[in-house]
Amino acid sequence: MHNIQPLLSKSYLKAKSANGVYIFDEDGKPYLDGSSGAVTCSLGHSHPKVLSAIKSQLDKLQFVYRSQFGSEEAEQLAQKLFELSVQQKHTHSFFVNSGTEAIETAMKVALQYWQEQGKSEKKQFISRWKSYHGITVGALSLSGHPIRRQRFENSLEKYPLLHADLETDSLERQYQEFTEVIEKIGARHIAAFVAEPIVGAAGTALTPSSDYYQTFRKICDEYEILFIADEVMTGLGRTGKWFAMEYWNTVADIVAVGKSLGAGYAPIAATLMTEKILTPIKYGSGLIMSGHTYSGHPLSCATALKVLQVVEEDNLLANANSQGGVIKSKLTELKSEYSFITKVRGKGLMMGVEFDPEIKGMQAAFIERCFKNGLLVYPAVGGSYGKDENGILIAPPLIINSQETEELLLKLEQSLEEVQP
Ligand SMILES: Cc1ncc(COP(=O)(O)O)c(C=O)c1O
Repeated sequence: MHNIQPLLSKSYLKAKSANGVYIFDEDGKPYLDGSSGAVTCSLGHSHPKVLSAIKSQLDKLQFVYRSQFGSEEAEQLAQKLFELSVQQKHTHSFFVNSGTEAIETAMKVALQYWQEQGKSEKKQFISRWKSYHGITVGALSLSGHPIRRQRFENSLEKYPLLHADLETDSLERQYQEFTEVIEKIGARHIAAFVAEPIVGAAGTALTPSSDYYQTFRKICDEYEILFIADEVMTGLGRTGKWFAMEYWNTVADIVAVGKSLGAGYAPIAATLMTEKILTPIKYGSGLIMSGHTYSGHPLSCATALKVLQVVEEDNLLANANSQGGVIKSKLTELKSEYSFITKVRGKGLMMGVEFDPEIKGMQAAFIERCFKNGLLVYPAVGGSYGKDENGILIAPPLIINSQETEELLLKLEQSLEEVQP
């Protein structure tokens, strides 16, 4: 008779309503949503244009099963994602319901891509230790996130995970590790390399250097390995561009999006792919063996389309960059004031702050203090092996205005002051 929430022994406050960047509890206390939930609600809450699109779609068509009917709503969303995709290369979208499912589908598409060409032995994936790609056994096998992984270690696939650090190891060392791993396993066994362009929950907005992805892309091409970009957190405006891979001007073969696609209004995610990837499958078995009962749900697709249209019409990428710039410069200032802040990084409205990992319990204390002060921030791990629970992500809705940004920063500073050792 109870809804299971993350901590079984904790009693969670109930949210009663939400509007714009605020969530209200049952006593009417407002919380500034400084993390967009789990970096999801890019348009904030109760956005009138999205609510009205949902209401009119409800009167029209809610659900059809994908092997019986297509829908105009799913077609239009695929068209929009193609138009927004890096260099307009992702011609096809496969709709699912969560970021994890988008990654699982990406893995299957990659496996099938090779199978259909008689290369069934290409079934290994290479990813990075500091990463989080989802909670199912397949997606978790790609993820190093220690806290989410540790209980299931023995049940996970033994995919190779790269350990070179994106910040402290030289680029040469990072490329060298990648090629060494490829050579060791043999490219004929490797289906794809999977990476979050900017590492979120598993890296506190850890960002590779400026020519990292171009070089990794080149290595993938040389060894005939596909490149899967996990843009579940970074995609669709969060970092101030439609796709974070634009910062590296690199086109991945397959891209997973989620979170900001439904923006909290509908559970929807997607696996995007280029023509090159779809072609052998289309003319081979003619079927991607993935999908779910709710895949391509017309109500979710119509909602997501409206979300993307609002981000575009209201110029929210520019807002993400300008408000993100204000937040980053204040955080940088705070870093010089509070010595227990060790890192400030991020792009657009995906900002990471790491605390000194030697000060135990700082992350939890800070998140709790922010909550008391009416501000929501999101936990992330960091430190040298990505196992320190010492980071937070600040990722408010892309609609945040200057006054709200100021309030967010005041609450943040107040909370820092109150928890400082
Ligand atoms: C980069 C990344 N990939 C995949 C996922 C999994 O998405 P979901 O929680 O919607 O299954 C997440 C969720 O945090 C994520 O940040």
